[in-house]
Amino acid sequence: MKGKIIGVFDSGVGGLTVLKELVKLMPQCSYIYFADTLNCPYGPKGSNEIIRLSKVITEFLIKQGCTTIVIACNTATAAAIDLLRANYPIPFVGMEPAVKPAALCTKTKSIGVLATKGTFKGRLYQETTSKYASNIKVCYRVGSGLVELVEQGKSNSEEAKDLLKKYVNPMLQESIDHLVLGCTHYPFFIPILKEILPESIDIIDPAPAVAKQTNRIIGDNNCDYAEKPFVKFFSSGSTQTLKNLVSEIEQGSKITFRNKEFIEYPL
Ligand code: DGL
Repeated sequence: MKGKIIGVFDSGVGGLTVLKELVKLMPQCSYIYFADTLNCPYGPKGSNEIIRLSKVITEFLIKQGCTTIVIACNTATAAAIDLLRANYPIPFVGMEPAVKPAALCTKTKSIGVLATKGTFKGRLYQETTSKYASNIKVCYRVGSGLVELVEQGKSNSEEAKDLLKKYVNPMLQESIDHLVLGCTHYPFFIPILKEILPESIDIIDPAPAVAKQTNRIIGDNNCDYAEKPFVKFFSSGSTQTLKNLVSEIEQGSKITFRNKEFIEYPL
C-alpha cells in the first residue's frame, strides 16, 4: 500500500488531542486511531492488564498496515512501551508528563502535575522527576473522575469545573507557575482551566512535542505520501463521543480529518 499509515491509540478519546497535532504537522499521512472505549479508564488498572490490552491493540494496528505507532496515552506508555518496543519490529512513540520543561522554566520553584495513578507509578515519571525536579516542589495529583467526564462528553460542565478546582486549588496554594497535563484526556479541559487558573500559570500539553518527535522518526526526506490520505477511527465501544469530539476539533481548529470513517470494533 502506498503511503504511511500511523497508528494511534488511547484508552478512549483522549488521544484525539495528540492525533490533532499529528494531522496538523503531517496532513499527508494516513492515520488509524483506536479508542479502547470499552476498557476505559486505564488509570486505575494494574499494569499487566494494560500491557495485555496494549498488545492486542498493537497487533490490530499492525494488521491494518500501520508502520509506526503513537501510544497517545500516558498510562499505557508507562505500563507497556518497553515491552511493545521489545516485541514488535516497528517504532513506537510514547507520552510522558512534561515535567522536564516545567522544571527547567519554573520561577517559583513549584510545579503542578495532574495525571492518572498508573502514570505516577511508572518508571518514566519517577526517573524524569528525580532527574529534573529534585530541587523544586512537585505538587502532583491523581485526576480521579476526569477521564470519565471527557468520555461522557462533559468536559465543559460545571461538574468538571468543580472537580478541577478541587485538584488545582491546593496546587495554587503551593504557588505553582506551571501545570503539566499528564493525561491526554486533560487538554479537553484547557478552556475551563484557563477560567479557574490565574493567567500567569503556564498549562503544558506535551502533544505538539510528541507530534514533532513522530515526524522526526518517520523522516521528512523519503516520506512516501499517501495519494488519498484517510483517518479511520475504531472504538471497542460506542463511537458517539469520538464523533462529537472529532467534529468539535474540526470546527475549532480548522483541521480536517480527511476521508474519515468511524467503526465499532470490540476487542
Ligand atoms: N488518556 C489516558 C492517559 O493519557 C487516560 C488514562 C485512563 O484511561 O485512565 O493517561
